[in-house]
Amino acid sequence: MSEPTESLAIETRGLTRMFGEQCAVDRVDLQVPRGTFYGFLGPNGAGKSTTIKMLTGLLAPSAGAIAILGMNPFDRDQALDIKRRIGVVPEDLSLFDNLTGREYLMFIGRMFSLEKSVIVQRSDELLAMMNLDHEHRKLTLEYSHGMKKKLALAAAILPDPDLLFLDEPFEGVDAVTSRVIRETLSGFTSRGSTVFLTSHVLEIVEKLCTHVGIIAEGKLVEQSALADLQTSSGHSLEDVFLEVVGQSDEPPQKLSWLEGGDT
Ligand SMILES: Nc1ncnc2c1ncn2[C@@H]1O[C@H](COP(=O)(O)OP(=O)(O)O)[C@@H](O)[C@H]1O
Ligand SMILES: [Mg+2]
Repeated sequence: MSEPTESLAIETRGLTRMFGEQCAVDRVDLQVPRGTFYGFLGPNGAGKSTTIKMLTGLLAPSAGAIAILGMNPFDRDQALDIKRRIGVVPEDLSLFDNLTGREYLMFIGRMFSLEKSVIVQRSDELLAMMNLDHEHRKLTLEYSHGMKKKLALAAAILPDPDLLFLDEPFEGVDAVTSRVIRETLSGFTSRGSTVFLTSHVLEIVEKLCTHVGIIAEGKLVEQSALADLQTSSGHSLEDVFLEVVGQSDEPPQKLSWLEGGDT
């Protein structure tokens, strides 16, 4: 990208990823203003995880340009700088199995060269907030799915990143955990940091996000401030979502053997 826009935390132009013949992400132009809470929505298989993997440097794009915090992730020096300033909660939550939650946070803090006292203080607060402190002897391999999600989020927040990426943070978590995650995230943006999360849970996105992007079959079909989207259409996010992903007019298909009748 010739001139990345300073006010944007994330900017892409023509971002594309092919898997063989399939175009999983198709010329996507994202614009995520700094300090916003951006919800990246789309049906299953739309290209959300593929996009977030490219933004966080886990997957190379087939074409297009990316600027993260005004920097180029494909420039070696800038890539390292970006890594110091972002937090990532990936889809597959690869934690180190043989560490306790506290040990894992300690390890992450040291990777980011934080002072030991800072790591200890932040870990204490995070483990208490996530309700993981009473499980202090448990190894992460013994954690439940929800506990892993919370620990992964704690690890991503610990270094106090300017930009946080989360792939489906509410997937498979209970209502209590979902609330803890939501509260943690709202506190995070209120201090000026940016959150970019993917989700297919519209209700949560509607409550939390200030901006939304909607991807369908690899194409970005909508992108705006949530308030503008709702006022301009006069509809709920769900109406807009179903309309732009092109499924609003089709009644859901019925299963032949579940249809009513006397057979
Ligand atoms: N490593 C891969 N190899 C081949 N196809 C892939 C791979 N990763 C994703 N895809 C395909 O790309 C499309 C988008 O996938 P993904 O980004 O995971 O969707 P989402 O996260 O929105 O559910 C899907 O059709 C998926 O099957
Ligand atoms: Mg996904």
